Amino acid sequence: MDIELKPAPVKKPRVEDESKLGFGKYFTDNMFVMNYKEGVGWHDARIVPYGPFTLDPSALVLHYAQEIFEGLKAFRQEDGSVALFRPLDNIRRFNRSAHRMCMPEVDEEFFLHALKELIRVESDWVPSSKGTSLYIRPTMIASEAALGLKSASEFLCFIILSPVGAYYKNGLEPVKIWISDEYVRAAPGGTGDCKTGGNYAASLYASAQATRNGYDQVLWLDATHRKYVEEVGSMNMFFVYDDKVYTSPLRGTILNGVTRRSILALVEEMGLEVVEHPLAVEDIMEGAVNGRLKEAFGTGTACVVSPVGQFTYKDETVSLGNGQMGVLTTQLYNTLTGIQYGTLKDNRGWVLSV
Ligand code: COI
Repeated sequence: MDIELKPAPVKKPRVEDESKLGFGKYFTDNMFVMNYKEGVGWHDARIVPYGPFTLDPSALVLHYAQEIFEGLKAFRQEDGSVALFRPLDNIRRFNRSAHRMCMPEVDEEFFLHALKELIRVESDWVPSSKGTSLYIRPTMIASEAALGLKSASEFLCFIILSPVGAYYKNGLEPVKIWISDEYVRAAPGGTGDCKTGGNYAASLYASAQATRNGYDQVLWLDATHRKYVEEVGSMNMFFVYDDKVYTSPLRGTILNGVTRRSILALVEEMGLEVVEHPLAVEDIMEGAVNGRLKEAFGTGTACVVSPVGQFTYKDETVSLGNGQMGVLTTQLYNTLTGIQYGTLKDNRGWVLSV
């Protein structure tokens, strides 16, 4: 399929001060769009000016949330070129989410080509300051106009781009986490491992409570036992416990993070023992007090590697690391971002030049 190029004739002004970018507040001049119709397949691929869509009020996505998305990043390299980090991993996860949500898959090679084409058109939007990147948000929605509950026969797929800085307002300062004992994010057999909007919508109520009480994020426990720590809505979690690195296993209730996978590879390469086994909430709370828990951090495309400085569960609060980012967390952050920005050698073929 060819991609029709009809970019915006006039460009928007750039954000001059890249330290003010924040996350997801600015969007580039253009976006990629294509349509799907049962019996026809994907068609009308185009790069057009960024702007609103016209959707029928009965579009199925607006009623039954048949929607998926992805998040990946492009980085400005030292020589001025632009590189993507593990884009095929994100495209493959997009297709796994599509399969689970009864949505049509995209052709991996074509979608990668579309992504690169869009980034080439928008390459001057890729910021260059430390800690900044171009966040890429591929999305698919059910656009068929109908009210009966069913899988749609028409879909809209688009990619939008946003120059970003740090995800959290305080950058790499350790975040405060509230462990929810009342609400759950995902149950076995559900859609917890899909990047679908409903998972995020369902997390908002507890997140709002956490924000009101001064916390940055909610850490979810498993739905069956309400005992084992799973993930934070915007990141997978890692714990340096008894000098081993623990993270929740992939059992369908947490997201199979691309950053998670990258960190696991880096930790193994450092010679540390990785344990993909759930830790109980008591291990976290007691470990922070008796010293068995040395560091905790979250990983994700948006938040990269983010240190955790405090956990609250029921009425107890424990602190980690005296407000500083831990030694291993810092080392992993520096290694991962070094590879992403091209200042460290990429031995694994993670970085793809645009
Ligand atoms: C990402 O890390 O790319 C995500 O999609 C998380 C989102 C909450 C910003």
